[in-house]
Amino acid sequence: MKFIAFNAREDEQQYFEAWEKKNGVQVDMVEEAIDSTSINQTVGYDGVLALQTGVFPEKMFDKLSKNGVKVFAIRNVGVDNLDLEAAKKNGIKVTNVPAYSPNAIAEFSVTQLMQLLRNTTIFRRKVAEHDFRWAPFVGKELRSLTVGVIGTGRIGRAAIDIYLGFGAKVIAYDVYPNPELVQEGLYVSSYDELFAQADVITMHMPATPKDHHLINADTIAKMKKGVYIINTARGSLINTPDLIKAIKDGQVAGAALDTYENESPLFNHDLRGKELEDKTFSELLELDNVLVTPHVAFYTETAVKNMVFIALDSAKSVCEKGHADTLVI
Ligand code: COI
Repeated sequence: MKFIAFNAREDEQQYFEAWEKKNGVQVDMVEEAIDSTSINQTVGYDGVLALQTGVFPEKMFDKLSKNGVKVFAIRNVGVDNLDLEAAKKNGIKVTNVPAYSPNAIAEFSVTQLMQLLRNTTIFRRKVAEHDFRWAPFVGKELRSLTVGVIGTGRIGRAAIDIYLGFGAKVIAYDVYPNPELVQEGLYVSSYDELFAQADVITMHMPATPKDHHLINADTIAKMKKGVYIINTARGSLINTPDLIKAIKDGQVAGAALDTYENESPLFNHDLRGKELEDKTFSELLELDNVLVTPHVAFYTETAVKNMVFIALDSAKSVCEKGHADTLVI
């Protein structure tokens, strides 16, 4: 048995090596993403590990199958960018890492909201310019706000716990309500109800075709004036031009975007000194009350370690037993 890991970063290396040593299974690391050229390196490997937000299309699974790969193990949770039917058709098992650290993402989303509420990036910029005045950037306290959490899986629940700890009022919406939270009376019964009541909307759900551009001009119009929007989930949940317009109009007071609908050519790439071709994205970067981060909510030591270990354990389990707890398909 041997595995090849694409998109392998230097901060993951120690974990790949430790697992390899402990399990006596060869794991080869490749820095590049898996694409139509790099995929040729998968011949002779039983398992392929990957971590990228770009698409894993049908032809990729056709090729992996021809190359004899049995298992495709992603080191992250979201599977919206994989053609799972193509994997199934080709007899390739797919595993993910459903819970590498829900807190990593929840904590990051709260961090970003708090920066927006207290205008810290604006004050940083002003201080750098030697402008030490306060007004008009008066902040807001979490305990004076209603936070609307969309998606109450592991990450959403971790976010709810943190917000409750800060004394915020929390409401939640999920198409699949969690019985414990139903008992706590946190759920509202529709998106519209959440939009009407929330001062902050924070998204923690997977991307499905039904929720594509959930945040758009029509839904933003149903929100409170001055709402804050936090997205550490998937870029496709937001119609970006509509959000930009609402921020410029003052309907949305601020947004923290760790994901962006066309992020894969941008995030985790070194584009220093290069002009950005994506004009919508450039427009976002110019807004003082928008915090853009390059899909790093997950990026903690705990998460990275779990992503590597759990993905490798899953791949090994599929090779040895034909099954893994983290099997997606
Ligand atoms: C996920 O786990 O799905 C993430 O969004 C993390 C990212 C590195 C792909």
